[in-house]
Amino acid sequence: MQSFELLSQKFILQFDKAHFPPQPVSLYGPNEYFLKMGGKRIRPVLCLMGNELVNEINPDAWHVANAIELFHNFTLIHDDIMDKAPLRRGNETLHAKYGESTAILAGDVMLVAAYDYLNKIDSLYLHQILHLFNHTAKEVCEGQQTDMDFEKKENVSFGEYMHMIGQKTSVLLAASLKMGTILGGAGERNQNLLFEFGKKLGLAFQVQDDYLDAFGDPGKFGKQVGGDILANKKTFLLIHALEVASASEKKELLTLLKTNPANKVEKVLQVFRDCKVDVWALQLKNKFLEEALTDLEDIAVISKRKEPLTELAHFLISREF
Ligand code: IPE
Ligand code: IPE
Ligand code: MG
Ligand code: MG
Ligand code: MG
Repeated sequence: MQSFELLSQKFILQFDKAHFPPQPVSLYGPNEYFLKMGGKRIRPVLCLMGNELVNEINPDAWHVANAIELFHNFTLIHDDIMDKAPLRRGNETLHAKYGESTAILAGDVMLVAAYDYLNKIDSLYLHQILHLFNHTAKEVCEGQQTDMDFEKKENVSFGEYMHMIGQKTSVLLAASLKMGTILGGAGERNQNLLFEFGKKLGLAFQVQDDYLDAFGDPGKFGKQVGGDILANKKTFLLIHALEVASASEKKELLTLLKTNPANKVEKVLQVFRDCKVDVWALQLKNKFLEEALTDLEDIAVISKRKEPLTELAHFLISREF
């Protein structure tokens, strides 16, 4: 079994190639720009790790890993348009640099390129992988729409938030792991347990993402700190603050949500701090992490094989970017 670091080095080496033809450069140039910005490459490596948990790496896992990373990048390009985000991975977002129309098309063709990789795998697993991939992609779209719907909704419950982040973020992490186990020939019980591990890890991952969006170090985060606040995103930070705030804090928050004062981010952050949402974030992440690790424990493979995933889970919830 290989560590996340080692597998991600190997993944990056083989992913670092042209995924698109050179022409028209006005379409494929932006895609290469986006892919060259890097990123943590978590999801494709999760696929490889899921495979290695149960077996030697199936050569097809590399194609599926490529497909997953391209799909993820497609979602990010479109997400940045939806979220009006100026920065990603420390660089200008694709739409900010090349315009929205190109960003839409660049995302579309990146999704199609993902399917080209899926089309390379052995027919033995193709049906199952394609079914899971498509099911996951639909859920991501549903989660992304709900995320936007919530921008305009004043009362979002914690349960609704959890459902939304489960769809927009967790399912892709979970499905990446599960695709790896499928390609490794795992039994259904192990496949499903690893999927559940991924779902809970994904919740912890998005909690950390929301936390960093508010409290991250701008020098390390790579995205615009405060972006969620400016977009009126119903993150768990806001939902929790509204739950525990005093009457006057709550009134202030609700007024801030309806207006756009010059120092909106600072003011919202102050209420967040007063409500100690940062402390709560830590507890919440740890709760999801523990639940995830319980599912991992239940998987019927020797514990040594699980070590890389345990290590990765800890890294993901303490990440700073
Ligand atoms: C960002 O994902 C989108 C979310 C689901 C929060 P990552 O934080 O994995 O982004 P990159 O690929 O490493 O940039
Ligand atoms: C995005 O969630 C999830 C997907 C791209 C599907 P966010 O909007 O929180 O992701 P970031 O913070 O922009 O990376
Ligand atoms: Mg976003
Ligand atoms: Mg978003
Ligand atoms: Mg975010």
